Amino acid sequence: MAIDEDVPAHHDASTCRGAASTPRADVRAEPTDGSGAWDIAQLLIGSRQHVSPKRLVAPGPDALQIEALFMLAAAAPDHGTLTPWRFVIVPADKRALLGEAFAQALLDRDPAATPAQLDAAREKAQRGPLLVVAVARLGPREADIGTLERMVSMGAAIQNILLGAHALGFGAGLTSGRAMGSPRLAALLALADAEVPVCCITIGTVSRRKPRQQPRPAPSAFVSTL
Ligand SMILES: Cc1cc2nc3c(=O)[nH]c(=O)nc-3n(C[C@H](O)[C@H](O)[C@H](O)COP(=O)(O)O)c2cc1C
Repeated sequence: MAIDEDVPAHHDASTCRGAASTPRADVRAEPTDGSGAWDIAQLLIGSRQHVSPKRLVAPGPDALQIEALFMLAAAAPDHGTLTPWRFVIVPADKRALLGEAFAQALLDRDPAATPAQLDAAREKAQRGPLLVVAVARLGPREADIGTLERMVSMGAAIQNILLGAHALGFGAGLTSGRAMGSPRLAALLALADAEVPVCCITIGTVSRRKPRQQPRPAPSAFVSTL
């Protein structure tokens, strides 16, 4: 597992770069089955971090690796087996179309956008060797499985892809922005009713690493006991 050359295979949790406050060295958890899976989970999840698409360059994952990443997405929890998400790969020869959708979306919001701003919007579609648009599938309506549940499943699918990319030695980042809600993007992606683009996933080789700035929240900040 080539995650980060600075992270030793059997690391002390307190030295895990990127993990910031997670996990603390004084908080030990031992697997109940002796499988060693906990060490892998702690290393993999604790060291994953967002990498800006600006810092993601070729090579990206190859076809087999991409297939493997989507198989990880398929392992997301999914109440009712609805697959309430799908992913649209935007290959190199279609990036200009995506860039144009971003630029037109900006013009729709701001008719006074300057040529430089429009070029910047277009350029965003050119970043990174693998660019995938994550699309939420919020229909057909099911009384028991609402939008929030579907989004939980989608988030898990995305996280599986991010962790898989990280485990393969790539960097990955999510980007969104107001263009996600634009009819221009919906038209380009030929979205069906109740399909909503949520974010782009960009995966590639990290050209320059930046240490995480913010520490992770401590469990006490988000966990209580009834
Ligand atoms: C749905 C979604 C959309 C995001 N969109 C952006 C974005 O547009 N720009 C950006 O810099 N980061 C974006 N992020 C990444 C977060 O900024 C990042 O995950 C956060 O800073 C925490 O950093 P970490 O991923 O390294 O833990 C997005 C994350 C999510 C979950």
